[in-house]
Amino acid sequence: MSRAARAVIDLSALRHNLQQVRRVAPQQQIIAVIKADAYGHGIVPVARALADADVFGVACLEEALSLREAGIDKSILLLEGFFHADELPLIRHHKLQIVVHSEHQLDVLASLPAQAFSIPAWLKVDTGMHRLGILPQAVPAAWQRLAACPAVAPLLGLMTHLANADDRGDDTTRQQLECLAAVRPDSSIAVSIANSAGILAWPASHGDAVRPGIMLYGVSPMLNETGLQRGLRPVMTLQSELISIRPCKKGDAVGYGGSWVCPEDMPVGVVAMGYGDGYPRHAPSGTPVLLNGRRAALVGRVSMDMICVDLRGQPDAAVGDSVILWGDGLPAEEIAEYATTIAYALFCGVTSRVKKETIDG
Ligand SMILES: Cc1ncc(COP(=O)(O)O)c(C=O)c1O
Repeated sequence: MSRAARAVIDLSALRHNLQQVRRVAPQQQIIAVIKADAYGHGIVPVARALADADVFGVACLEEALSLREAGIDKSILLLEGFFHADELPLIRHHKLQIVVHSEHQLDVLASLPAQAFSIPAWLKVDTGMHRLGILPQAVPAAWQRLAACPAVAPLLGLMTHLANADDRGDDTTRQQLECLAAVRPDSSIAVSIANSAGILAWPASHGDAVRPGIMLYGVSPMLNETGLQRGLRPVMTLQSELISIRPCKKGDAVGYGGSWVCPEDMPVGVVAMGYGDGYPRHAPSGTPVLLNGRRAALVGRVSMDMICVDLRGQPDAAVGDSVILWGDGLPAEEIAEYATTIAYALFCGVTSRVKKETIDG
């Protein structure tokens, strides 16, 4: 075996997390968000494991095509719709659903003739995120226009995205819900609002279709909370091995820039994992790793291929011992906090040289 850096993807944890979504939102359609290579977990194995989801949500046509090429025939929703009109023939051919979020997209759709397969579409409303979506006052006219497009059918409903749902104390979510309710023509029109934070913390946002992303991968989006506390199981475990142990002397500076100096004679371990693998460059000294199931602290700067760890608490550690960087036993949320980032970015940042291995249970 060569370099040991790998990301182990636990498909049974993924299915468990999907069941947790079903438990919290039992009546709703589940649009499982598997964009960005399933948040870095591998879009095809993740899609296969999430066969019980109702729809897959992806960011672009290329992601949808990778699913179709793998033989996945479930409904797929393009969360940003199309970027250019020349995507529409493939969208039709592969029977994809779209989100319509702009007047420009409406203009393009209005110019299309009817064809054998009409494109199912959600109309996205900007209720306060101020990123994508039709402004609330323009929704009635946009809905009418979309309904009149011969190329579009059925209209799936109104969609919006929550900006601050990870913060229970923030009033923005309530305002966004009120805004959507005000433009919804009647309750027969379906709505899709909730991301993971909405699912976990805002029952009023559940609507008719929920769109879980990060919680499927075992992470809680809520501030100051881990997925484990929510009964979620980590799906990705990033792991590697100790490749060297050095007997350092008091005063030895470890790694680039010598930012960490040994306070006493001590063993320092070197782990085959660095920012070239997607481990965060800004993880500071003190960030935990799990060495043989026990915590040890990172010391010095993260290099491209290696990190160093303090072995004073583990004098028996040996070259070849297993090291977990995040995942099973070490929440990604915790590492993200040390590195002043979010678990989403950690997962998406794992690079292609890290082998992905799937396990099931
Ligand atoms: C439109 C849309 N819905 C749902 C999600 C899922 O969000 P989360 O991963 O926070 O559950 C995303 C992710 O960014 C999104 O862009």
